[in-house]
Amino acid sequence: MDNHFKNKLLHKKNEELLQGGGQARQQKQRASGKALARARIDALVDKDSFTECLRFVTGEAAILGDGVIIGYATIMGRLVCLYAQDFTVCGGTVGKKHAEKIVTILEMAVKLKAPLIGLIDSGGARIQEGVEALHGYGQIFRKQVQYSGVIPQLSVILGPCAGGAVYSPALTDVIFMVEKISHMFVTGPKVLAAVTGSDVDMESLGGARMHATQSGNVHVTAKNEAALFKEVRAFLSYMPTGKEIPCHKHMDKVASLAHVLPINEMSVYDVREVIQLLADRQSFMELSSCFARNLVTGFIRLNEQTVGVVANNPKHLAGGIDVDASDKCARFVRFCDCYRIPLLVLEDVCGFIPGTEQEQRGLIRHGAKVIYAFAEATVPKITVILRKAYGGAFVALNSKALGADFVFSWPTAEMAVMGADGAKSVINTESRETEDTPVPTAFLAAEKGIIDDIIEPETTRARLIDAYAVLACKKIAAYPHGNMPL
Ligand code: HXC
Repeated sequence: MDNHFKNKLLHKKNEELLQGGGQARQQKQRASGKALARARIDALVDKDSFTECLRFVTGEAAILGDGVIIGYATIMGRLVCLYAQDFTVCGGTVGKKHAEKIVTILEMAVKLKAPLIGLIDSGGARIQEGVEALHGYGQIFRKQVQYSGVIPQLSVILGPCAGGAVYSPALTDVIFMVEKISHMFVTGPKVLAAVTGSDVDMESLGGARMHATQSGNVHVTAKNEAALFKEVRAFLSYMPTGKEIPCHKHMDKVASLAHVLPINEMSVYDVREVIQLLADRQSFMELSSCFARNLVTGFIRLNEQTVGVVANNPKHLAGGIDVDASDKCARFVRFCDCYRIPLLVLEDVCGFIPGTEQEQRGLIRHGAKVIYAFAEATVPKITVILRKAYGGAFVALNSKALGADFVFSWPTAEMAVMGADGAKSVINTESRETEDTPVPTAFLAAEKGIIDDIIEPETTRARLIDAYAVLACKKIAAYPHGNMPL
């Protein structure tokens, strides 16, 4: 796969995202008096303030996003996290990945101390995914209970909310409904007719009026979505959470970032050039520049805020991590964590350096320090994968699994358990086509939610500035004192 193709793929996927369940279903949605999920988000939040997370996640239904859009935005300048179900994709139903995304945004809301808003328009558990769909709801319920009283949770019902799925809004603090369009019931009219023979219409069974006047399940109703969103915004103005953050996203591009990597992916380059391009002008200060040169550590200013940078440098030892680089990295990460300095990892790594000498010097123990330091650090942590991220180094260098707040990748980057040559020596090459050795690209990782997003190199600086501005709200408890491998 050449780089040109991968760059084009990003554009194609960006367009595909907007299609949802296709034009016909989108038209049907509008015709029934309901807006599309993305338009709803735009109508609710401050202009241009929404940032989508995990947009490329794909589940069994093989549709980008798996029927739910998650992300953060501001409302009247204050941070909120939200999810919006897309009824045009499998009726907005909850499958495994859909549920994982909702759990992710709930966790993010707690981490950022922001209210969580659910825009609900869903047929409930996705029948095709069976018990996995039910399990997904269970996981959402658990998080909702765990975070109840920690952050305000709002449910805005904008269509159906049927079956056991209704227990999700029921577990939140406040429920909003649109008259005549929103419905909530444990058992729908069709099933009711089949089971009990009773003939009842949607409105009397679960309409906004019934819930506002009889069941008491709903707190605020309005005649249409626009009026309801006004109520949601008003409600939030009374809430204590949701810190003020800059509303407008940074749009400026750094064109030279698009060409900073050599065309030949085997060629070396000096990662300090990338750092300089990302940083505020002349703000990079390197530490230990003559020791373990395969890993660069230092400080930059990003929109005038200090950030600690750890970067593999392919110019030395192909950027691989050895004993000295491990020590340098772990010590620097802990330094930043001590003084609340946000961390940035620029990753282009073939792995930990193989060989007897490194093993005898204790690469296992020293490499473990890198894992320990990143997993333990509670400061904002972001990784950008520039070109490749292989093996243990992929995990160790601030992966999502270790608790990175965001992992972004450039479209051309590769992630794999090991490089192609190593893989061929391990996997039975007779039974597998060696040319097809599984080297998942950034896109596969993004589909699975193992990285957050694929971004164009020239937008990286702007994206980082915005992400750190949001992460300034991050607050999580530090682990108790542990036994770091020294
Ligand atoms: C999979 C579903 C679905 C479901 C709807 N769809 N519900 N797909 N699983 N649960 C799909 C439809 O097949 C259709 O796909 C699209 O969504 C739109 O649905 P329509 O019926 O065409 O739309 P509409 O007429 O507006 O009716 C919407 C509806 C109705 C009222 C939601 O679809 C319905 O009654 N669905 C079943 C609702 C239900 O009983 N849910 C409970 C599930 S059990 P196409 O491809 O045609 O666009 C549950 C338990 C959770 O949720 C337990 C947690 C503890």
